[in-house]
Amino acid sequence: MAGARTSRIPEFYKKPMEERRRIVAEFAGLTEEEVKLISNFGNLDPEVADRMIENVIGAMSYPLAVAVNFLINGKDYIVPMVIEEPSVVAAASNAARVMRRDGGIRSRATEQLMIGQIQVVKLKAPYYAMALVLEHKDEIVRLANEGHESLLKAGGGARDVEARVVEGPRGPMLVVHLLVDVRDAMGANVVNSMVERVAPLIERITGGRALLRIVSNLADRRLVRSWVKVYKEDVGGEEVVDAIVDAWAFAAADPYRAVTHNKGIMNGVIAVALATAQDHRAIEAAAHAYAARDGRYKPLSVWEKDADGNLVGYLEMPMPVGVVGGAARVHPVARAALKILGVKSAAELAEVMGAVGLAQNFAALRALATEGIQRGHMELHARNLAMMAGARGELVDKVVEIMVREGKVSFSYAQELVKKLSAEGEADRGG
Ligand code: MEV
Repeated sequence: MAGARTSRIPEFYKKPMEERRRIVAEFAGLTEEEVKLISNFGNLDPEVADRMIENVIGAMSYPLAVAVNFLINGKDYIVPMVIEEPSVVAAASNAARVMRRDGGIRSRATEQLMIGQIQVVKLKAPYYAMALVLEHKDEIVRLANEGHESLLKAGGGARDVEARVVEGPRGPMLVVHLLVDVRDAMGANVVNSMVERVAPLIERITGGRALLRIVSNLADRRLVRSWVKVYKEDVGGEEVVDAIVDAWAFAAADPYRAVTHNKGIMNGVIAVALATAQDHRAIEAAAHAYAARDGRYKPLSVWEKDADGNLVGYLEMPMPVGVVGGAARVHPVARAALKILGVKSAAELAEVMGAVGLAQNFAALRALATEGIQRGHMELHARNLAMMAGARGELVDKVVEIMVREGKVSFSYAQELVKKLSAEGEADRGG
């Protein structure tokens, strides 16, 4: 059949971008308009994009916003966020506004330790092999650090070796962990190169076969802890404090709720991760595994009422982020976003992200425990409709207020109101 569609395209990656785009356009029947849209790289240099990943045909823009009002460890931050979901940025800014007392949100990152794993199979005596690995710890650490002078100079490097025998479906295997202080990098690359380097030594020591050599994304030695007190009068009184604590208790008791609770935290965390070009899958994977570390999925935060009736919140989660190397260095917008944030280290970025997660979580719980989440969403939706219907300035607020109050949020009603209120305005001005 002539022109049969196939996705089997040999050496697609070798073709110039233009040609790749043409092939895809033909395959999918894209219009000229759509092709033009795809090939608009916005603030990303096409050559940079083409080097970042494979088979690039274009770029896709997301809104870059900032959350304001953040005071973290006594320092003011304007927080860049990239996200497609309305309300998140507004909610973060509003939450941060009531969290400015007493120096604002507190946040502390632990050491920036990442774990590299080496899976050793084909062992006759795995426990004895484990003991031998631990006996040779210093030698392994020394070898891992060879060739990583700049990391060592920055105060980082491989620190320690741990080993366990793990029972798998194909029998016991030895799992060796290399603990690496990665300082200001996300660290996956350096850890991967280190575990690959030491694997032959581990084979020699154990007589087994080192199979997988790869970073672990369960970054539980690289945590951030954030905590805050929100005064009861800033939340809407002790009744609201109790309602928020009850909302948290729901998440603590029920994994179906805990996942949504944590999703709200990740709304903030991942928006900052995207703005600063972090590996957000690594952050997500670590967060959810950490939430389930006791064998049951739990919320990453805790909300309590203190002795004075105020709301106090605590968040603890892994935060594997970097400010050197990777896309954070390559993408010009990520570089600018880091400059807006003004963070000097990966630890500081982690502290900001923990604080944003906690604020985002508070905003969601407060909305849910009081008026419900839809009202805010409805207002934004109504605002969009009013603007689409031609309202500007004060008229937007009026149209929104009426539509929300009457529970009639639609484009046709917005048009009707714009027409009516504009005519009334004209009449008032004696028109
Ligand atoms: C929506 O993106 C996030 C929330 O569902 C979080 C939550 O329920 O806590 C509002």
